[in-house]
Amino acid sequence: MRRAVVKACGMSVPNQVMTNHDLEKLVDTSHDWIVQRTGIHERRVSRPDEFASTFAGDVARQLLRKSGLDAQDVDLIVVGTVTGDMPFPSTACYVQEMIGAWNAGAYDLGAACAGFIYAMASAGSQVESGHIRNALVIGVDVLSKFVDWTDRSTCVLFGDGAGGVLLQGEDNTDRGLERTVLLSDGRGAHHINFEMGGSRYPVNTPHAEGRRHHIFMNGAETYRFAVHAMGDACCRVLDEVGLTPDDIDLFVPHQANLRIIDAARERLGLPAEKVFVNVNRYGNTSAGSIPIGLCEAEAAGRLKPGMRVLTVGFGAGLVWGANIIKW
Ligand code: ACO
Repeated sequence: MRRAVVKACGMSVPNQVMTNHDLEKLVDTSHDWIVQRTGIHERRVSRPDEFASTFAGDVARQLLRKSGLDAQDVDLIVVGTVTGDMPFPSTACYVQEMIGAWNAGAYDLGAACAGFIYAMASAGSQVESGHIRNALVIGVDVLSKFVDWTDRSTCVLFGDGAGGVLLQGEDNTDRGLERTVLLSDGRGAHHINFEMGGSRYPVNTPHAEGRRHHIFMNGAETYRFAVHAMGDACCRVLDEVGLTPDDIDLFVPHQANLRIIDAARERLGLPAEKVFVNVNRYGNTSAGSIPIGLCEAEAAGRLKPGMRVLTVGFGAGLVWGANIIKW
């Protein structure tokens, strides 16, 4: 059976750091409140001349450089994002242009903070089918550009960044994507959204008047959902392959809030050393968060070939899902 194996990973974040103390100057908040409620100390914020494709393209270049793959051998570029450069064309097409991957198909996939999980499932199944061999799977979001910087309940949570992997088809191996579960519940669409700019409320039309042009989030509802969703997706994906949490070498959850990560860790009964956490340094980078985590875990020597990693994400939609990958 053909498997979709991770051959390289990369990450890219803005240089500009915004600390909690910087935020104290913008809104009525404090470093201590943010740390206690979220675990976040600082986040990266892009400049006006940096966009989703800036970071996604950087990741794509790293993936080619690290793997030695020629750009002409890339068959597919999938970018998980809800903050692409423009409503259209896709950010994946900008990435294709940046690396000159002229033989690749390219598309974006919108599953908010679960964007990387969904993108892995989408690209992985095409690699496993044998239709394609090499796929760049990238998660990127630049939520700092969509946040209301006067709303303390949301602006402290988010940061910008991208990460990604090269998935390559390989036979006769037990490495690669082992299982994915993808879940959603559109009844919760109103809990987190960005109203303006789509076909429902197009900009500069009467329909758009009074509509929000910033992220809206019902924090308490999202929190309740997140705690349930993380445990739900992890238990389902483990059950489907007949594994238990003991079989997992590293858990790389979506980095939204340390308390949500701790709740998932407790539900799974995992020891703290098996859980990767960097929410303190980046905040919630949405679709970027899981691949940034994978990349940093590998760089730190916590993720080595043959190890089994469980990733899980949740976000606006509502959507959630989990992947088990043999690294
Ligand atoms: N600084 C100080 N006080 C604040 C701040 C702040 N930054 N933000 C809110 N508060 C206040 C509130 O106004 C409230 O005050 P009140 O009691 O006088 O009304 C109080 O703090 C408590 O607010 P809560 O909302 O109850 O705080 P909670 O402990 O629930 O934490 C948080 C809020 C961190 C937002 C939490 O609800 C959370 O993490 N939610 C999930 C967010 C998330 O994971 N989103 C990911 C999906 S996003 C996507 O997919 C794009």
